[in-house]
This record gives sequence, structure tokens and C-alpha cells, in this order.
Amino acid sequence: MALDLCNSRDVFTILEGIPSISQVKVGPGVLMQEGPSLITELHSRGYKVFLDLKHHDIPNTVRLAVKAAKEMGIWMLSVHASGGLKMLQAASEEATGSPIILGITVLTSLDDPQLKEIGFTNSVETTVLQLASLAQKGGLGGVVASPHEVRKIRAQIGNEMLIVTPGIRLETDTKHDQSRTMTPRQAVEAGADYLVIGRPILEAPNPKEAVASILASLETAKKP
Ligand code: C5P
Repeated sequence: MALDLCNSRDVFTILEGIPSISQVKVGPGVLMQEGPSLITELHSRGYKVFLDLKHHDIPNTVRLAVKAAKEMGIWMLSVHASGGLKMLQAASEEATGSPIILGITVLTSLDDPQLKEIGFTNSVETTVLQLASLAQKGGLGGVVASPHEVRKIRAQIGNEMLIVTPGIRLETDTKHDQSRTMTPRQAVEAGADYLVIGRPILEAPNPKEAVASILASLETAKKP
């Protein structure tokens, strides 16, 4: 679950209400508000933490960020695959498998016209596949992509790397700022290893029930 909340009180209130959650994603908002003590507290309560700061910097700076995350016992850490091969290699060399370094391909909020606006000439799909290859070449443990690209990524990179997918919405959910969404079941059936879900749980009238219905929808999902 993505802990896109404002403070640790809200974080622990929601987590205490949903005991089935054991893996959480911490982003810059709540981390800047609360500092690293939030991660220490999550660890002491037994949560595995995906630190999603989406690093995109020179290799040395990213290496230092990975070193700090490793010392903190972070489970997964994200970097932008578009940071380039040297940056990806620096991250994976420093991590040596832990934390698992995930390469962000193309943000799930972006679509073809927005990519063009940034200056990319290829489509989302071509760009995602190109960046997934680069992540593999850089020795990363996985990639982050929209569920729409999972099948093609898997065919290209094989089964060694994880595929993590945000952009998850139930049929009845609002899409918010996400462009390329799928339901949890569709994403798992496409081959996603982990789903990142934030607002469909956080903004649900009853977050515990929202998680229960997501888990129920996955019970009969057929993994590829
Ligand atoms: O609320 P929602 O389910 O849309 O949250 C998705 C989460 O996944 C957010 O924390 C966002 O930062 C993250 N994310 C994403 N797209 C990516 C990588 C991460 O939406 N490509």
C-alpha cells in the first residue's frame, strides 16, 4: 500500500485498521514531514518498506542514497531508469541485491501526448520497453511500469526481474491523475509481481473493506 498521507499519525491509524497489509511504500511527502524515524517505526512494527523517492541524479549521488537505504534496511528503492546506465549500475553495485533496486520506466500518469510534450519521440510502450532493457543491463532487481505494459516487458526481460505496477483502479474507482490503469486482477493476470495501490484504499469510505475486496478479487486470478 502507498502511504501517500501527511503524517505518521494518519499512517499508523490506517495501518492499524488493516492488519492484512505488511508491505508499504513511503514517498517524499510523508518522509519529509516525519523524517527517517517513520521508517524505523514501520520496521519495528514489522513492515517491509519500499522507499519510493524515484532517484534521478549523477551516479555518485544515487550511490550515496542507496548506501543510506541499505543501512536503514529498506526492502525496495526506486530510481528512474532514464537516469542512464552508469547511474543504474552505481545503484545496483551499491545495493548488491538489498535493497531491491526498481527502475521506473514511464510514470503511469503519463500518456503519449505528454511524453511528446517532454521531448520523447517514441510512444509510451516503446519507451517503457527501452527503459526496461536498460534497467536489466544496469543490473536492477525490477522495474516499475503500468499494468498495460507488463506482458510485453515480461516477454522482453524474462522472469528474473520483478515487475511492480502502480496505476491500479477498481472498475468503480476514479482514475485521479493516473492515465494507464487496470484492475488488480487484470494486473496480476498480466504478470505483475507486486501492485502499488494508494488512493483506492486511502480514500475509500472503509479502507479495510477496500483491501478485503481487492484481495477477494485476486483469489481466483490466474497468474501467467
Ligand atoms: O493513489 P495511487 O494508487 O494512484 O498511487 C500510486 C502510487 O504509485 C503513488 O505513490 C505514485 O507515486 C506511485 N507511482 C506511480 N507511477 C509510477 C511509479 C510510482 O503512480 N510509475
